[in-house]
Amino acid sequence: MPKQENYDVLVIGSGGAGLSLALKLASQRKVAVIAKFALTEGSTFYAQGGISAVLDSQASSIDSHIQDTLNSGAGLCDAEVVRLTVEYGKKSIDFLRQQGMAFTERQSKAGEAELHLNQEGGHSERRIVHNADATGKALSQSLINKAQQHPNITLLEHHNAVDLIIADGRVLGAYVLDTQNKVVKTIAAPTVALATGGANKVYLYTTNPQISTGDGIALAWRAGCKVANMEFMQFHPTCLYHPDGSSFLISEAVRGEGAKLILPDGTEFMQQYDQRAELAPRDIVARAIDHEIKKHGIDCVFLDISHKSPEFIKQHFPSIYKKCLEFNIDITQEPIPVVPAAHYTCGGVMTDSYARTDISGLYALGEVACTGLHGANRMASNSLLECLVFAERASEHILSSELLNTVVELPAWDESQVKESTEEVMIAHNWDELRRFMWDYVGIVRTTERLQRASHRLALLQKEIADYYQSYHINSDLLELRNLVIVADLIIKSALARKESRGLHYTLDYPELDNSQRKNTVLAPSNN
Ligand code: FAD
Ligand code: SIN
Repeated sequence: MPKQENYDVLVIGSGGAGLSLALKLASQRKVAVIAKFALTEGSTFYAQGGISAVLDSQASSIDSHIQDTLNSGAGLCDAEVVRLTVEYGKKSIDFLRQQGMAFTERQSKAGEAELHLNQEGGHSERRIVHNADATGKALSQSLINKAQQHPNITLLEHHNAVDLIIADGRVLGAYVLDTQNKVVKTIAAPTVALATGGANKVYLYTTNPQISTGDGIALAWRAGCKVANMEFMQFHPTCLYHPDGSSFLISEAVRGEGAKLILPDGTEFMQQYDQRAELAPRDIVARAIDHEIKKHGIDCVFLDISHKSPEFIKQHFPSIYKKCLEFNIDITQEPIPVVPAAHYTCGGVMTDSYARTDISGLYALGEVACTGLHGANRMASNSLLECLVFAERASEHILSSELLNTVVELPAWDESQVKESTEEVMIAHNWDELRRFMWDYVGIVRTTERLQRASHRLALLQKEIADYYQSYHINSDLLELRNLVIVADLIIKSALARKESRGLHYTLDYPELDNSQRKNTVLAPSNN
């Protein structure tokens, strides 16, 4: 049995949220950051469009970012949290620059270098800083680089958090599967931060990497935390439609530069749905595409930027240009086939504005959390901003709290009652079944009947997976599946509870907004 490891803070997740927090704490705390696979493998690394942030101090610019966020959130944003987040914008970008991150610049009219700003859906003005169309890669690499150099930060790749260790309403650490050495370690820490990203792998088609299996939501739920707004799963309107590149995102910034959505015969259609057309918030654009695909019985629609010069396209979207060319699509000459795909989890572990959860010492930040910023629909590029702002807020709280440094001896992981699995096929089969029926029945357009059908299927899977977990040694696939069924259950329950259409939740049985239901859907483990 491996020896217990002890840290001041255990951060679960090495994306924008987790690494920012670790770097902010490391001068005063001994921090471990664990990552399920490689350090880069998270949504952060794949982020394209950028980070929305008001860099000047003009009240009108701040107010306009706040108003756009509230509009996208369809009445469910927490206005205080929105204000706070927007006001931390400049500080957040300054932090990234201090970590060595580079941003795309342009020459101002006065001939000086200034940051180039992108525009995306829901934004009434340009306010998105970026690094060409690979913002996440630049961000990840600069944070990883700094963290690797810090003597107080231990980075543990291929370490999968299995469960939190809780006693008397306080977190004490976590059991963690070291997947390369196949042992479960006990990591003790009086402060634990969940920064595990989203849960979009619960759907068959997603823009997200493998890690997005909602582990942090499931860990927190099993530990007793409240989870909110899980019905608001965001579908990005434009994911590349190609048999070999189906999860590749075509950034909303392409629409921000004037790209048009068209049918196979070249007809534009977005004006029929919203006067903001291609720059309407994501829920509207994704639903419009879904509607057109079903109406015309087509596989995809097309996104056309070819009216811009090849130089402009290659300069602004070098990664998208290159990736599409790998599939023989020259975006300077022809439109890109696109479909919506699951992209972002707006709900999650409920926190306050310091990222605190219901459990003492346990924080949640980044996509795993539900802070109140996104409401019923996240506005583009507000997510990386949220990661940075809540890393700052959590660090302020952690550093101002007393350092609890008594080392507690925790019980070691007990696997005396389990044996080697002979039924691995069950895991692969159930993974596939779950993601398929979530896509078919709990997707962009819902009905009560479809949700109930999904709920029945899920009950069978839940039982099978719980029995399997009790009987066999764990591995990463099993842990992810065990977490995904919890997340799926939370999504379905939340969707059934909301008897109206709002933001990302659209049901044919209740197609209108009903302001008597303007409240968060909060689920508590004790009532479920
Ligand atoms: P992630 O970056 O997803 O990191 C999660 C971390 O948790 C990983 O290190 C993972 O290994 C670890 N982890 C998970 N489970 C466990 C476990 N059980 N044990 C141990 N470790 C675990 N947002 C924007 O604001 N702007 C954009 O331009 C933008 N573009 C996007 C493009 C794409 C293709 C995608 C997929 C998302 C995009 N988003 C964008 C959304 C944004 O990237 C994410 O919401 C954000 O990066 C999430 O950061 P995070 O730190 O919370 O999680
Ligand atoms: C994109 O570049 O379209 C993604 C932006 C986001 O998800 O915020």
